[in-house]
Amino acid sequence: METKITIAIDGYSSTGKSTVAKQLAQKLGYVYVDTGAMYRAVTLFMMRKLFVSATTLNSEAIVRHLPFISVKFVFNPKKGFGEIYLNGENVEKEIRYMEVSEQVSKVASIPEVRKLLVQQQKEMGKDKGVVMDGRDIGTVVFPNAELKLFMTASTETRAQRRYDELIQRGDKVSFEEVLKNVKERDYLDTTRDDSPLIMAKDALEIDNSNLTLEEQFGRILKIAEDKITEI
Ligand code: DC
Repeated sequence: METKITIAIDGYSSTGKSTVAKQLAQKLGYVYVDTGAMYRAVTLFMMRKLFVSATTLNSEAIVRHLPFISVKFVFNPKKGFGEIYLNGENVEKEIRYMEVSEQVSKVASIPEVRKLLVQQQKEMGKDKGVVMDGRDIGTVVFPNAELKLFMTASTETRAQRRYDELIQRGDKVSFEEVLKNVKERDYLDTTRDDSPLIMAKDALEIDNSNLTLEEQFGRILKIAEDKITEI
């Protein structure tokens, strides 16, 4: 039987991590875990419960509410990947709203939130055969992952991709608003005290600013297949 490995994909927001991670998981028959969706689901819960906003973020109240949250992925055969459920409700769509994007980095900087989700992520990947994307997968969640990728692209390229995605979905946002959010999240994600976004020493950097999705996937699939045969 072919050896299964752990594939950790980290990087800045909107670098296309989840697109490539999903494609890779489907091709290899691995489980895909979108850890950003987990932080987003916790944020959505807090926004509904505590009306979290930039001025009212209360870490203590958030920590007190953590025991009432269950975040799970349920495989959707039509889509070919797991969708996120918050206390039994499918929130795959809600968690992508701009309002959630504006709050998520702050909620994700709370050590208790990270501790809880990291523990669940470790459990989900304990049998290997997993492609997990996020910000701290290769550094904190799976420091021994056999393959670590770090995705980058210019800020403008990332904001444009995110803007196109939101517009296509019918959201009313301006490009400036999206660009500002991408920059703010980069800043918060890289400067927080607990598990800031940094490239693991043994990660392979992939700058996809000038790559098509096909080119990127071809390149990454080859790297993953080589790694699997090597092990
Ligand atoms: O990948 P994403 O944009 O959906 O992630 C949403 C936010 O969650 C991101 O701004 C930072 C945070 N996050 C994190 O801190 N650690 C992870 N492993 C994944 C996401």
